[in-house]
Amino acid sequence: MQVLVETRALHKRFGDIHAVRGVDLKVHRGEVLGFLGPNGAGKTTTMRMVTGFLEPTQGTAWVDGVNVALDPLRAKTRMGYLPEGAPCYPDMRVEEFLGFIARARGYRGPELRSRVEHAITAVNLTLVRRQTFETLSKGYRRRTGIAQSLLHDPPVLIMDEPTDGLDPNQKFEVRQLIRRLGKDRAVILSTHLLEEVEAVCTRAVIINRGTVVFDGTPAEMDAKAPAGLKANRLDHVFRQLTTGDLPAGPA
Ligand SMILES: Nc1ncnc2c1ncn2[C@@H]1O[C@H](COP(=O)(O)OP(=O)(O)O)[C@@H](O)[C@H]1O
Ligand SMILES: [Mg+2]
Repeated sequence: MQVLVETRALHKRFGDIHAVRGVDLKVHRGEVLGFLGPNGAGKTTTMRMVTGFLEPTQGTAWVDGVNVALDPLRAKTRMGYLPEGAPCYPDMRVEEFLGFIARARGYRGPELRSRVEHAITAVNLTLVRRQTFETLSKGYRRRTGIAQSLLHDPPVLIMDEPTDGLDPNQKFEVRQLIRRLGKDRAVILSTHLLEEVEAVCTRAVIINRGTVVFDGTPAEMDAKAPAGLKANRLDHVFRQLTTGDLPAGPA
């Protein structure tokens, strides 16, 4: 399996705060990796280092074989990034925004237009393409953010809490979209929703206080819960690994 994202011994310090403490990850084509952890665990910081928006204090990240620190521009051609929250230019129409990003990515003329059309179709934005951002629902804003991350058809997608703030229907749609996109790409999505892991992820990595405390399939995560526990099994394992105040289940 082709490795599309790799990090080795990634660290980030903000003054006295050691936010990321030696994160090693390998994500392959076809994987949707759920990056889990409580608030403040270091998910966003890690993702920003992988995308090249934040320089690691120590360690290295590669995207599709490109060293992000040494060649950030080339690395950015290999990945799409959906930052936390939504991109926001309140007065811009959806299609204008996508055209603007496509231009920034270096596309011009017919190529630019076909990239924008393709992204609009891929995430179902046709109905709202002429609406301005400020008039869109959260779900459509998020989808516009996803469309922007797909314009250059990158093999790697990094999404920071892509379903945060969406209603259950919108969550369902965005998760379906991510599952589809993940089939022939490598996707890293951060979340603190355990249901998201079962719904879309092929693999879960849990980070706590900057350190990876679990890396495995959702089934392997489930297997760490006590045998007799009927509901919220992943929540139980998550709490056990990130607070340490629950008894471990039988092996
Ligand atoms: N720019 C920054 N300056 C100082 N501290 C930061 C900065 N960004 C993040 N942090 C701190 O780093 C830790 C990890 O934050 P973050 O990566 O945003 O966590 P998560 O995304 O898992 O909620 C937190 O303690 C946060 O306060
Ligand atoms: Mg975050």
